[in-house]
Amino acid sequence: ATATIGLTGLAVMGRNLARNIARNGHTIAVHNRTAAKMTALVEEFSDEAREGGGELVGSESLEDFVASIQQPRTILVMVKAGEPTDAVIDELVPLLDEGDIVVDAGNAHFTDTLRRQQALEEKGLHFVGMGVSGGEEGALNGPSIMVGGSEHAYENLGPVMESIAAVVDGTPCSTHVGPDGAGHFVKMVHNGIEYADMQLIAESFDLLRTVGGLEPAEIADVFDEWNRGDLESFLIEMTADVLRHTDAETGKPFVDVVLDQAEQKGTGRWTVQSALDLGVPITGIAEATFARSLSGHAEQRAAAREMFSTTSEEHTVEVDRDVFVDQVRAALYASKVVAYAQGFDQIAAGAEEHGWDIDLGSIATIWRGGCIIRAQFLDRIKEAYAEEPDLTTLLTTPYFADAVKDGVDAWRDVVATAAQAGVPIPAFASSLSYFDGLRRGRLPAALIQGLRDNFGAHTYQRVDRDGSFHTTWAGDRTEQEA
Ligand code: 6PG
Repeated sequence: ATATIGLTGLAVMGRNLARNIARNGHTIAVHNRTAAKMTALVEEFSDEAREGGGELVGSESLEDFVASIQQPRTILVMVKAGEPTDAVIDELVPLLDEGDIVVDAGNAHFTDTLRRQQALEEKGLHFVGMGVSGGEEGALNGPSIMVGGSEHAYENLGPVMESIAAVVDGTPCSTHVGPDGAGHFVKMVHNGIEYADMQLIAESFDLLRTVGGLEPAEIADVFDEWNRGDLESFLIEMTADVLRHTDAETGKPFVDVVLDQAEQKGTGRWTVQSALDLGVPITGIAEATFARSLSGHAEQRAAAREMFSTTSEEHTVEVDRDVFVDQVRAALYASKVVAYAQGFDQIAAGAEEHGWDIDLGSIATIWRGGCIIRAQFLDRIKEAYAEEPDLTTLLTTPYFADAVKDGVDAWRDVVATAAQAGVPIPAFASSLSYFDGLRRGRLPAALIQGLRDNFGAHTYQRVDRDGSFHTTWAGDRTEQEA
């Protein structure tokens, strides 16, 4: 046994992660169901590994692979989420010894991680659910890593992960989030925020083009400009890149030749499902997820287009182009603050529900680099939690409160303009409504309580004294204490 760590599952993510580990000075055992992928990896990248002080140790059989790793073994499983992951774990477990650590580095649902952790613990093994963000490029050059598992597991796994993760201001973007499902839960919320970020960007693009009259290449310049300010982030930078790209075949802007139906693998859906269970209003993420599903309803869209589409003149709204561009920027920033505030609320609620002690500041810290939502903005979130670890909502911390106050007039103008122009902006509008909902003196929820009591005797509370009450709506309308 020579390797300090092993990895099975050499599709693009696994292969890149293995290369990253090897060239950062570790000897890594590699295995793949189809051995050819393993052989190709070892042949192609052994020199690269050695230059970094590491080595790739390939095995054709799972038995040889396991035997080539030092005990207690740390084994990364990098296969498709769901049944394929269970199948690999089932094959692996009989070959392991007590104290070995199995790490699922795929995009697993955290409830699967909880189940697997329990099953392996009963067999004397450690199970880690590890969220890895950054796509193929991140896996190779430095991802953001969210580890969920025991202290013992992190002692073994942590140093290797910290050596391969992205680094921001000298701090590696890898952390021990908490036990069992905590790492995959946080990765799930990361993806939910990723959905919201992308939807807000897409709505900004639509507004700038439809209302502002800018061409995709001009919008690319706007995004480049935004990327030099508070909005600086990987996704904003990438938006400029995608918008500037032209299709080689037709010479049209790339964005015009792509079908306007957005797919999803499911992490956004899981985030929304979990938020419903936890009772956390993550409206921005939910609207982003629903916007993707609406885009996919081609038949309904065709029917509605035929029935309701109107001439573009009817929806023309005159705007001053430069002023509008800046208003959209402010609306995007304010909506982004809301989406992140909601995402962090969900992590706090998930931690409470599952008994995980999650340090929210450390999550902001490791999302600053490597991951898809990496952004300058996360420095501000990190600082907010450093100042006040138990803060009620990110929205009211001084920096974000100022940003929202400065942007709120523009935000309202943009939402109103979009409504007049008939441009759908579910994420912008719902974020603004969330903000107004939180800050409102009295909400019409009082009327809802009245209605519930009227039709179902569900009782209500009063503003002026404690207790629950019911009005005899069908009778003499006296109020009784329930
Ligand atoms: C990342 C990404 C990655 C991925 C997801 C989302 O953090 O590196 O989030 O996990 O791109 O699969 O994809 P969907 O949009 O298909 O849900």
